[in-house]
Amino acid sequence: MPSPPPTLLARLEKANQAHVLRDWGALDDAARAALVAQIEGIDFAQLDALRGAKPADALPARFAPVPVTPAAYTAEEKARGAEALRAGKVAALLVAGGQGTRLGSLQPKGLFPGAPLSGAPLYQLHAEKLFALSCRYRRAIPFLVMTSPATDAPTRAFFDENAHLHYAPDQVRVFQQATMPALCPRSGRLLLEAPGKLFLSPNGHGGALTALADCGLLADLRARGVEHVFYFQVDNPLVKVCDPGFIGRHLAHGSEASSKVVYKQDPEEKVGVLVETGGRGTIIEYTQLPRELAAERDASGALRYRAGSPAIHLFALSFLERVTRDTAAALPYRPALKCVSHYDPDTGATVAAPPPTAPNALKFERFIFDALPYAERWLTAETAREEEFAPIKNATGPDSPETSHVAQLVLYATWLARAGVETNGNLVEISPLFALDEEELAAKAKRLPPLTGPTILN
Ligand code: UTP
Repeated sequence: MPSPPPTLLARLEKANQAHVLRDWGALDDAARAALVAQIEGIDFAQLDALRGAKPADALPARFAPVPVTPAAYTAEEKARGAEALRAGKVAALLVAGGQGTRLGSLQPKGLFPGAPLSGAPLYQLHAEKLFALSCRYRRAIPFLVMTSPATDAPTRAFFDENAHLHYAPDQVRVFQQATMPALCPRSGRLLLEAPGKLFLSPNGHGGALTALADCGLLADLRARGVEHVFYFQVDNPLVKVCDPGFIGRHLAHGSEASSKVVYKQDPEEKVGVLVETGGRGTIIEYTQLPRELAAERDASGALRYRAGSPAIHLFALSFLERVTRDTAAALPYRPALKCVSHYDPDTGATVAAPPPTAPNALKFERFIFDALPYAERWLTAETAREEEFAPIKNATGPDSPETSHVAQLVLYATWLARAGVETNGNLVEISPLFALDEEELAAKAKRLPPLTGPTILN
């Protein structure tokens, strides 16, 4: 049996991590090679530093409510955004590498039924919105989909099996984010998933930026003439992907990073809040905003820190190039305590995930919004929650499939009512291929047959 490479062993012993080799003797050659590769990818000094960091370190010393531009876009803004789409200057970046632990689905979230009646998967809804836009503006919108080791294979299979969801294969690019190891919070020891296999997790949605640069996609976008990247998350079926008005405002302002804002009504709502610090925009996570500040109200009675983030951003490509090139702008890793099931090499047993009150793993993630403070010119734009934000995060309760499906049905019913369509109380789903927005629906309303039961307009 070959011994572990001596330099590797020495590195592990120095870092107090030699336990990861405990099952070396029982591994086959392929598993040993995989373990060596996993260990070689670890920066132990970085892990040590991260372990010492306190979550409170991430809160800016001074911050104030952020200025928010209004929800309604001018005709000029819409025209300018449409022109950028027509000229092929905008790409869409969908982050879909998360493990969807709260939802509890074993499949990638992108395959989860996002639409209320048809059950169309979230990937399909997003791809159809992009396809509808590219038909409207007669220009393909490059579609970048970030996956992780857990979501990559099923995602690629889904796109392949569904003929790339209307896309030419070279216009949809699936790429993988990097991973980070997890530690035992008490001992700092690396956790294992199985004998001789480290417990690795995707490195957060902020991992998208280095992943895009590392796999050459930023350069590829530049070569294709793209100048702006619309960022969105897989679990919000209502997102107005590549919204022309938003693009137009971003362009008119010369913004490097623009973010949509949904006003919080409830101080307890679990969304990050956009604030201004030192003339820059940044997001404070809901776990970090002190409760008394979250509940503070202004003279009008509205929450002072109400600029909730639905995680919808638009970045100038030059900005993404700059932050990924400049190592000083590397997004920080934020530590988070989680509950995971893992393998214990000391006992040879699998440890079940503990209850949420007793987390047993320290994970590290990069957050996309940590890029925002690097933007010299930036803006925020209000969007109505009922029009654009109905995320699917939890299996039940708030932000669940049920609340998201209801929000979609209510929005479609509103469009139909305003267009004068009598639904006779029937539930109606509107596919992005039928109408992307209220105006398009209104234009087709007169040709609709009477609705006699639950209807999917597609
Ligand atoms: P969430 O933070 O809601 O995480 O991700 P999640 O993985 O979907 O769900 P939980 O927390 O495990 O229950 C928000 C968005 O960021 C993506 C997700 O796929 C989702 O679109 N994401 C998250 C990544 O792409 N990579 C990551 O490492 C984490």
